[in-house]
Amino acid sequence: MMTMQLRGSKIQGIGAYLPERVLSNADLEKIVDTSDEWIVTHTGIKERRIAEDDQACSDLCIPAAQQALADAGISSDQLDMVIVATVTPDMAFPATACIVQDKIGARNAGAFDLVSGCTGFIYGIGLADGLIASGVYDYILVISGEVLTRVTDWTDRSTCVLFGDGAGAAVMAPTEPGAGVLSYVLQSFGEHGDLLKIPAGGTRQPLTPELLAQRENCIRMEGHELFKLAVRGVPDVAESAMAKAGVQASDIAYVVMHQANKRIIDAAAKRLGIADERMVVTVDHYGNTSASSIPIALDEVYRSGKLNPGDLVLLVGFGAGFTLGAAVIRWDKEPFAT
Ligand code: UT7
Repeated sequence: MMTMQLRGSKIQGIGAYLPERVLSNADLEKIVDTSDEWIVTHTGIKERRIAEDDQACSDLCIPAAQQALADAGISSDQLDMVIVATVTPDMAFPATACIVQDKIGARNAGAFDLVSGCTGFIYGIGLADGLIASGVYDYILVISGEVLTRVTDWTDRSTCVLFGDGAGAAVMAPTEPGAGVLSYVLQSFGEHGDLLKIPAGGTRQPLTPELLAQRENCIRMEGHELFKLAVRGVPDVAESAMAKAGVQASDIAYVVMHQANKRIIDAAAKRLGIADERMVVTVDHYGNTSASSIPIALDEVYRSGKLNPGDLVLLVGFGAGFTLGAAVIRWDKEPFAT
């Protein structure tokens, strides 16, 4: 049954926070048997940011959220909902979103966490769009925050060179139908869940001294298999979202993809027929920040002053689950004054 959409949603404000501490490939050469040459040619990563020892997920989310609120020009008590997409929450519960809701003073908002791996931000945008379009809520803060380096096995060279910490946030607000978020597609392929996980520390395998000694509380990843799934899945989900929005690859001003590997970004550009300069790249300086990579990259292109009202932005994510997601957004903010 067709339903008449009475309103849409848009990104009214955006922000990001990156910890100051930089870990270079040369630093990693001192920790594991790797080289700057291997890391750069296989991933495109040159350096990444690392949270301070006393910084938890919410500590990264809060400054990103505050910057997004300032950019949106609204106060925290106008928020109806706070969503934090993360795989590295402060603790199992309460939700990191509740901690952020309290600390930013969003006293009129509900709050919950969302676990969709590196696709989390796009799931958050989709959920927020649905809640706003239904007329139930007006302002929703979607934050992605990750402290992946705290669940990294620093003896495993196949993963420890990849990840970084950071947070990004967007304030979603109502707009007329056909503006802002034009479409989104959210997918899950749970049959591939074992390819990327933290095996222990949940109810399946509660932590024991033995599991801790084996670092089973850290990220385990079958990188090569994921690489193949991402290279195949990203163009398909992106094309589904573009078809749903009624737009073509040639209409897209910028593609903001999950930043896992420069080679995956290059392969997607080729398959989609999108010029390299339209692909936003931050993986070289921030590494893979999981759910945070898309809002961090979107914030970076916005703050560079390159995004103009009317520009079409394609967001594409992939990650643990295995999840895939894409969204097409018609940008309506004035260029950021640099
Ligand atoms: O963010 C969510 C989803 N994550 C992803 O999508 C990750 C997708 N996967 C990837 O980005 C890539 O598969 C990786 C960057 C993780 C790995 O690159 P690859 O080209 O697929 O390498 P590989 O795993 O096939 O390993 C190739 C070789 C192996 O040596 P042998 O067996 O050929 O002798 C590895 O042991 O590279 C070796 N290797 C390393 N050598 C130096 C693996 N890691 C390292 C390292 N330094 N850090």
